[in-house]
Parts: sequence; structure tokens; C-alpha cells
Amino acid sequence: MDISCGGRKGGLYRPKVEEVLLQIRPLIERFNGSALSSLVYVLEATSPWTFGHSDRTTRLALQIGRAMELSPGELWGLKMGALLHDIGKLAVGPKLLNKTGPLTEAERELIREHVYVGAQLLEPFAPYRVAVPVILQHHERFDGSGYPRGLAGPSICLEARILAVADVYDALTAERPYRGAFDRHRALQFIKERSGSWFDPEVVEAFLEVCQGPISP
Ligand SMILES: [Fe+2]
Repeated sequence: MDISCGGRKGGLYRPKVEEVLLQIRPLIERFNGSALSSLVYVLEATSPWTFGHSDRTTRLALQIGRAMELSPGELWGLKMGALLHDIGKLAVGPKLLNKTGPLTEAERELIREHVYVGAQLLEPFAPYRVAVPVILQHHERFDGSGYPRGLAGPSICLEARILAVADVYDALTAERPYRGAFDRHRALQFIKERSGSWFDPEVVEAFLEVCQGPISP
């Protein structure tokens, strides 16, 4: 599996990515899952806009996964992938994560690299390796219009297809520096309208089923 930084070897941001990998890998090696949760806390503390996002997204993704009758092993991969999906944003830094104005193409590129950085962080550690494809593919879209590889349909692992829905729903219903929070109805509509394009229709169906019950705000 290629988890190199998407053709940006030696590129503008490469030294910073390497620096983050060097700092964080020993922590992952030495500690357990609760230390990884702390890393997520560190990431989210750098941006008030995303605080709690990984935790809420994980809970919703697991609800969808259970509704789709994933096996315990698949649910573990989904849980780890969802909890750590944006951990690569540690290499992006708070200045850019909290930017309110429009992004330049270089900034967009850097943010997109978070999927590779997250995968590179976890790949060496067997207990978390199951999360690597989930992290790598959580911004792919069902119709092939996503990134980093433009994978489509079942080429995207099911756990990443589930995470994509949970991630977008939670992001929409939270306030961002550049827009207000969507209410629940508008967010559901947004997801429904993209069933079959951005999202797997079967996942959307399970998501809507889950939404009949309580969902974290
Ligand atoms: Fe992400």
C-alpha cells in the first residue's frame, strides 16, 4: 500500500510532516489507545471549531456500522479509523486549521495530505494498522470524485464509506469559522441529496435509519 505523501516528496511542507511523524511515533509505540485519544484531544484543542468532532463522529459511525451488521473486527477498524481519521492534521498546524478566509491551492493541498500523514503515523503499529485504509480513504467519494486517489464504489472500504457520512454530518452540524451550523433537517437533506454521488446509498439508508433515534448534536 502506498502511503507516501502523494507526489509531494521534497515538497513545500515535507519537512514539517517528517518532524511530526518523528515526534508522535514514539508516543504511539509506547502507549495504548487512551494515549491515542489524548493525541486526538491535542489535535482538537488546537482548533475550537473541531473540538469533540472525532468523538461524536466515532459514535455516529459505530451506530451506522451496527445497523449495517458489521462484524466485531470491522467495528474495531471503524472505531479506530473514526477516532483517528484527522490525526494527520497535527502536521497542518492551528494557523491554517483556523483560517477564516479562502484557502490557496497550496493550503488545500497541505490539508489534503492529512490522510497520508495519519496513515504514515499508524502504519508501523500492528494494533492500529486496521485503521490505515479507513483513514486513507475517508475523503474518497462513491462516484470517484474524492481524494486522494479518486477511488469509487466498493473500491473504497466499507468502513471508510461509513466514516465519510458520519464525518460530513458532524462537520455540517457544527459551527465553522466560515459558516454557521446546519440544523439537523438541513444536514440530513444535504446527505440525502448526495446519496449515490458522494456517499454509498446503502450507508445513507442505514444512516437515515439510525437518525430515527437520538444522535449526538
Ligand atoms: Fe479528514
